[in-house]
Amino acid sequence: MILTQDELKRIAAFKAVEFVESGMVLGLGTGSTAKHAVDRIGELLRQGKLENIVGIPTSKKTQEQALSVGIPLSDLDAHPVIDLSIDGADEVDPFLNLVKGRGGSLLREKMIEGASKKFVVIVDESKMVKHIGGSKLALPVEIVPFCWKFTAEKLRKLLEGYGCEANLRLGEKGKPFVTDNGNYIVDMYLDKDMGDLKVVSDEILRLPGVVEHGMFLDMASTVIIAGELGVKIKNK
Ligand code: A5P
Repeated sequence: MILTQDELKRIAAFKAVEFVESGMVLGLGTGSTAKHAVDRIGELLRQGKLENIVGIPTSKKTQEQALSVGIPLSDLDAHPVIDLSIDGADEVDPFLNLVKGRGGSLLREKMIEGASKKFVVIVDESKMVKHIGGSKLALPVEIVPFCWKFTAEKLRKLLEGYGCEANLRLGEKGKPFVTDNGNYIVDMYLDKDMGDLKVVSDEILRLPGVVEHGMFLDMASTVIIAGELGVKIKNK
């Protein structure tokens, strides 16, 4: 039987929700995979199979969805330590480093998932790569709107050794895409792998104007990968 990509995402999400226990504070991810996990948590709450859950949403979109399925919500100020976060990813390497943020929610995701005792990543098998960032898909970087061209050019120069193009992400009607935090996103298209990711990460974060980037290094505790041949679970 051939499963669609969305069915695989749903399988991974449902598997991750098996880690959820009543009384937990949960980081709720953003994107088409995490959406299935949020739906499932809501369903289990309605069925009385889970209780006393507090959700911390990683985007305004997830906030709306979680409220619509009946998950009580709070934030990091009230809950600085999260028991478990569940979220998708755009790329996952063999060491469980991730690229996230092609949906634009990387900053809140990194804050919330970084504050989690356990971070479970849910993907279909198409997201598995040898090296993150070097696959000609975008590495998103959130920047302040002030003189964004200046910051985008600094980013391009910094990564030019990896064959980098830096494009401002556009949203509706060709206007800049604006994140939940009022910032812009520059998508970095690279055609070589970046080598020491920690070094590149620090260099990007040192540029004034950069708020955060989409490399999530050494953050995932578990990755659940759904594929045609079943579900694989990789632990850190
Ligand atoms: C949102 O900003 C992203 O980090 C998503 O979590 C990531 O892009 C995965 O999204 P999908 O599950 O829709 O592929």
